[in-house]
Amino acid sequence: MKIFESSSIGKMKIKNRLIRSATFEGMCDENGFPKEEYHNHYSKLAKNDVGLLITGFSYCSKEGAAIQPGQAGIDSDDKIPYYKKITDSVHGYNSKIAMQIAHTGRQTRSSATGNDVLGVSNKKSFYFGEKPKVLTTEKIYSIVNEFVDAAVRAKKSGFDAVQIHAAHGYLIHQFILPSINNRKDEFGIDKEYGIGIKFLGIIIDQIIDKCGDFPILVKVSASDDYRNKFSKEQFISLIRFLDSKKVDGIEISYGTMDQALNIFRGSSIPYNTILDFDPVYKKRNTILRKVWKFFAKAFLSKEIIQFSPMYNINFAELAKRYTTVPVITVGGFRSKKEIELVLSKKQADFVSLCRPFLAEPDFAIKIKENEEYRSRCINCNVCAIKTGTYKITSCINANL
Ligand SMILES: Cc1cc2nc3c(=O)[nH]c(=O)nc-3n(C[C@H](O)[C@H](O)[C@H](O)COP(=O)(O)O)c2cc1C
Repeated sequence: MKIFESSSIGKMKIKNRLIRSATFEGMCDENGFPKEEYHNHYSKLAKNDVGLLITGFSYCSKEGAAIQPGQAGIDSDDKIPYYKKITDSVHGYNSKIAMQIAHTGRQTRSSATGNDVLGVSNKKSFYFGEKPKVLTTEKIYSIVNEFVDAAVRAKKSGFDAVQIHAAHGYLIHQFILPSINNRKDEFGIDKEYGIGIKFLGIIIDQIIDKCGDFPILVKVSASDDYRNKFSKEQFISLIRFLDSKKVDGIEISYGTMDQALNIFRGSSIPYNTILDFDPVYKKRNTILRKVWKFFAKAFLSKEIIQFSPMYNINFAELAKRYTTVPVITVGGFRSKKEIELVLSKKQADFVSLCRPFLAEPDFAIKIKENEEYRSRCINCNVCAIKTGTYKITSCINANL
């Protein structure tokens, strides 16, 4: 397999094997409508030869919105014409675009959604800190409908596929994880699979039912940082389940927002950036900053996994043993050599990248022209921490 050979995911033909992984944009208005910046962002990436663009997570209902300002929504039909302009522009450059759809569940705050924080169980997220209101069975079915309606809207908006966000601790992931899902109803842990698959399963079935031949990608976390860790066996169960559902692509990521720095890794912990910008931890008072840093250094330094190139590849390789569905690996790809290596060894079918495309929207062109090219991204993670501010997502080292 080669980077710049054409390929396909389901019926979606893609001009190469490079994917822009979902990246929160912060480029929408307070009602979730995409602004001009969102249009320009995707047009620029498409113009610069990225085969498939996956949007940042878009809420399927306001109740499931994130705390980051400027999030995209796909919760109402009046948004369709706005997205249609964007997908038309991307198609004009012969790229494909998938919309990532999500519900935050317990990983939000009531001040952001204007509603109770909703949860699979009453266990609260360490980071977000609000005790969730436990979803009734009836309410779960209504959220299933929200996901399905969101996918229908994405299709009507001209997106080539939908990516269901089942990773990073958001609602679907909360159902999957035995460490969170203690439900006794039909949405609890499945006896055969040993994980909570019913919620995701119904969403997939109903999207297929309503959208027909419309590719479905699913993003999952292979493991997490909880004491009761998601095990290798449970991850294999999840892959076997997705294989049985015949989804069109599986993207393999890691972790939850409780330890977000392990999703996108760095070489050091950016304590000052966190204290300056993180919506939960930010502090102005000098003494409080010192106290926080003291405890964070003691605690975080043990919990945080350092950046290493291609850091989720072993999970992708493992997934490939249990499915014939195309596997997408994400996390820590910074050069053409790394991408070529995993494709040539067939450790994954596609490679997706997030931060390198923030640093350089023309990264794909650069590696096409120069075998030795390395991304300017230095994994400082300022881009990620600043998503909690009212600024659009950007890179401080960007070469635009
Ligand atoms: C600024 C920023 C925003 C992100 N937004 C999303 C998102 O909306 N949905 C998602 O699934 N992952 C999101 N991620 C995670 C990335 O898709 C990706 O999994 C992770 O950054 C590792 O890839 P990389 O090393 O190429 O950056 C985000 C990461 C960053 C740094």
